[in-house]
Parts: sequence; C-alpha cells; structure tokens
Amino acid sequence: MRVCVLGATGYAGASLLRILAEHSEIKEIFAVSGSVPGTKVLDHDPALTPRIAEKMQSSHACFVDLQHAAGAGCDAIFSALPHLESAKMCAPFFGNSVVLDLSADLRIKDPTLFEASYNTAPPRPDLLDTAVYGLSEINHEQIRSADIIAVPGCYPTATLLPLIPPAAAGLVRGTAVVNALSGISGAGRKAKIELLYVERTENLAPYLPGATHRHWGEIKQGLDRSGTKLDLVFTPHLVPVKQGMLITTVIELSPGASLDAVRDSLEQAYAGKPCIHLLENTLPETRMVRGTNRCVIALQEDRGRLMLFSAIDNLIKGAAGQAVQNMNIRFGLPETCGLPLSGEV
Ligand SMILES: NC(=O)c1ccc[n+]([C@@H]2O[C@H](COP(=O)([O-])OP(=O)(O)OC[C@H]3O[C@@H](n4cnc5c(N)ncnc54)[C@H](OP(=O)(O)O)[C@@H]3O)[C@@H](O)[C@H]2O)c1
Repeated sequence: MRVCVLGATGYAGASLLRILAEHSEIKEIFAVSGSVPGTKVLDHDPALTPRIAEKMQSSHACFVDLQHAAGAGCDAIFSALPHLESAKMCAPFFGNSVVLDLSADLRIKDPTLFEASYNTAPPRPDLLDTAVYGLSEINHEQIRSADIIAVPGCYPTATLLPLIPPAAAGLVRGTAVVNALSGISGAGRKAKIELLYVERTENLAPYLPGATHRHWGEIKQGLDRSGTKLDLVFTPHLVPVKQGMLITTVIELSPGASLDAVRDSLEQAYAGKPCIHLLENTLPETRMVRGTNRCVIALQEDRGRLMLFSAIDNLIKGAAGQAVQNMNIRFGLPETCGLPLSGEV
C-alpha cells in the first residue's frame, strides 16, 4: 500500500510515521509538510527508525509538499492537520483515496453542535453524512466500506469506549460525570507559554471544564447515538506527563442494573477485540498503555453508582494508532497489523 501523511511534523503525524514505518503492508510513504518541504525526515526527527527512508525512496526520504502528494495516487491519506485546515487540505483526495482525518472537521454530524463546539460552521457540511465516525470497535462494520473516516478525539475515545456498552444496554441513567487527565502532547507541538516545561511541570490544572470544552459535543454525540439520553459533565485536566490519558466516569446505575450486568455488556461488546482489555483485579494506569493502541478498562460500584476507569495513550489509541487500526479494518488487514499492544512495566 502507498500512504500519505499530512501534518507529518506534528505529534500525531510523527506518531503515524513511527507506526507506518514498521507496518508490514505499507510499501511507500509520502510525508507532507507545509513548513519544511524538501528537508530530510530523519534530520527533522532522528529518533525515527532509518527504515522510514526505505519506504520514502521516491521522495528521497524528504518531506514533500501537498501538490506532490496529491499526484502520487495513494491508497490512504492520513490527515494530522489542525481542525478547519484539515478538510480544506484534504480536498484533492476526497473521492480518489480513502481519507482518514484525525482532526475534528468531520466528526460531529450536527452542524449546530459543531458550531457550538468550534465557534464556526463545519468546513465541509456536504461530507458529514458520508464520513464514518472511526471509533474502531463500535463502528467496525461501517468502517469496512468507508471512504472517509473521521478519527475520534482522544478524550471521546477514552470516555466512550467504557460507557457506550452499558449505556446502549440501558444499564445507566442520569448524568455521566467524567473527570479526565491528559498528558501535555494532547495540546499539539506548539510554542505557547502555557505549554512550557516551567509552566506545566509539578503542576496539575483543570482547563475548559463543562460544555465549553470542544470535546464535550463529540462525547455527547457518541452518547446520544448509543440510544440513551444521558447528560454529561466533563472536566479535563492537564497533568505533567508527556503522553497518556486517564478517565474516571461516575454515573447512576439504572433501577435493577448490577455491576455484573455492566461487566457482561462490556465483555459482549469487546469479545474478540484485541485493543480493548477489561481488567479484573486492578485499576488502569497510563503506563499499561503508553506507546500502545490499547484501551484498558475497569469498573467498580459505589452505593448504586457505577465507576468506570479507562486509560489510553492519547497519541496512539487516541490518534495515530486508531487511525491505522481503521485503515487496517478498511483494507481487510488484520486489525492490529503494525500496532504495538504491550505497555510499560
Ligand atoms: N495530540 C493529540 O493527542 C491528538 C489526539 C487526537 C487527535 N488529534 C488531532 O490531530 C491533529 C494533529 O494534532 P497534533 O497534536 O499532531 O498537532 P501539532 O503537533 O500542532 O501538528 C499539526 C501539524 O499540522 C501542520 N500545521 C499546523 N498549523 C497549520 C496550519 N495553520 N495550516 C496548515 N498546516 C498546519 C504542521 O505540520 P507541517 O508544518 O509539517 O505541515 C504541524 O506540525 C489535530 O487536528 C488534533 O486535534 C491530536
């Protein structure tokens, strides 16, 4: 397969290059950069395996510009560009290649909800019905035939995976209270004062709590699509780690619902799903998933309330890894092809 990565110098783009360099079915990679075209990928990112150069021979192992990539006839395009830029820059590829968009541009189906989340109209309303929401385990069947895949955000992935099965089974009700901790790479590779080491190290902080956070709408859409009307209180926090995401969700159990029934709903939903691991006697930690495409989940009951715990790597299962998982599903490859699954000790 020949693939192209847009926004290849960013954190998600660099994570894609790492995965695709090792992926057995990827024969050729075009790494697109608007800022440093013509420079060597390995000069920019010496930590990448030299194997990447073997898969970039036609571009002399250099970043290329968008025009070059648009003429390359790639099977799949990964866009790791910022929202509102992504759909615009993917225009030459729609209808010609399978497009996997890691930005938010095509994730939210309701234009009003998109506007409430991003303070502007969706950039391609004409594509919202066509784009499949790429939450791999939940929308596997639609992904198999999708030509446009909107790869979910990291907070929605880590929140929805444990919550959708019990919600869809009617086992929970009321308000999902979601507390989320994210590593700093979730904010992207930007030169911003609030992202400096001195500002973030030894420091924990909530940010954009409630419906003001952009991912509130995307999580709410995921809950609404599960068939139940749950409210959502979402509080994200920045924690001083490079990458990783930990979520604790508390929600009331429906009358008559039990912890065993919730566990059954998760076991049924994720039977045979290699990237989801339901923990038995321990709670999730980010080191279990760091550098991997896994989501680990645990559950507990507290006086009629369900507590759900989940952890992912925001750059892998929350971005680049889930995008490659979707490519694997779409092209009929083994779902975990090229994807690391073992975490750290
Ligand atoms: N970081 C995460 O944990 C995470 C998780 C899930 C989803 N995402 C999504 O993935 C996308 C990339 O995120 P990221 O964290 O990798 O961001 P990033 O580190 O800021 O990288 C984005 C890349 O896009 C290009 N770019 C930046 N501004 C641009 C502009 N105005 N016009 C055109 N190109 C521009 C740059 O690459 P070139 O200059 O080389 O073109 C840049 O390196 C975003 O849409 C983000 O929401 C990120």
